[in-house]
Amino acid sequence: MQKSVLVAGSHGTIGKAVCERLKLAGYDTLTISRAQETSLSHLNIAMTEPESVAAMSNWLSERMENLVGVIHCAGFLHEGDKGPEKNLKQLNADWLHQSIQVNTISHVHLAQALDSLIRRRSELRWLSLSAKVGSIEDNGLGGWYSYRMSKAALNMFIKNLSIEWGRRASGTSVIAMHPGTTPSALSEPFTRNWPKDKLYSPQLTAERIVSVFESMSAEGTGKLYHHDGSVIPW
Ligand SMILES: NC(=O)c1ccc[n+]([C@@H]2O[C@H](COP(=O)([O-])OP(=O)(O)OC[C@H]3O[C@@H](n4cnc5c(N)ncnc54)[C@H](OP(=O)(O)O)[C@@H]3O)[C@@H](O)[C@H]2O)c1
Repeated sequence: MQKSVLVAGSHGTIGKAVCERLKLAGYDTLTISRAQETSLSHLNIAMTEPESVAAMSNWLSERMENLVGVIHCAGFLHEGDKGPEKNLKQLNADWLHQSIQVNTISHVHLAQALDSLIRRRSELRWLSLSAKVGSIEDNGLGGWYSYRMSKAALNMFIKNLSIEWGRRASGTSVIAMHPGTTPSALSEPFTRNWPKDKLYSPQLTAERIVSVFESMSAEGTGKLYHHDGSVIPW
């Protein structure tokens, strides 16, 4: 039986490329997204909603047999004419809340859906796409309050989850990863003057994500990884 990987946020630029890469590497994919698709391997749901936890858990309970891991791609940076803050004056509670809903809570809800399905002998891998700008240690520029704060919250969630699941099932591995700057709806307004040699195609980014995913181990759990495989301080 082929191993399967669950890709959450499967209709974003990186999510789609990760699905393609996983298929090339010989995995079956299960997908969760807000996008409609008529397939038994796809669940159309808004992971930001509390009701999604029970619905995802029911759906996953019948699909756990060959599931080896999760790659969570959901993230949010701008919408309409609203984008990341340049200074404190621009920070507002609604925008911060919206950022936390997608960048943090959608990851929390999926983990809660899986929680009761994890057995003691599980070797499940969980990889959440975070961002280097979510590293507190790495922050030398400031700005982008809501994105940075919501990714930093995601990072702390990942650390906690790695500890809790690691206690219950010592073979599990839970990490966050910085995928590298990749042209997408999320990055588009900020990459116009970005050096071309530091802008990576969705295919290359997906290849790197799957490579980090495949190298995951219980020993390397609870860390934030760069796309080159090195560890970024939290
Ligand atoms: N692109 C970059 O340069 C870059 C750099 C650093 C980190 N990242 C991170 O990489 C991840 C993927 O980003 P991307 O570049 O592929 O961006 P994208 O094309 O804009 O995709 C956005 C992703 O977020 C999900 N999403 C957006 N709003 C949502 C909502 N309200 N509720 C639930 N899900 C929502 C989408 O899921 P659906 O399938 O439901 O559409 C999709 O997976 C993000 O976490 C981002 O922060 C990207």
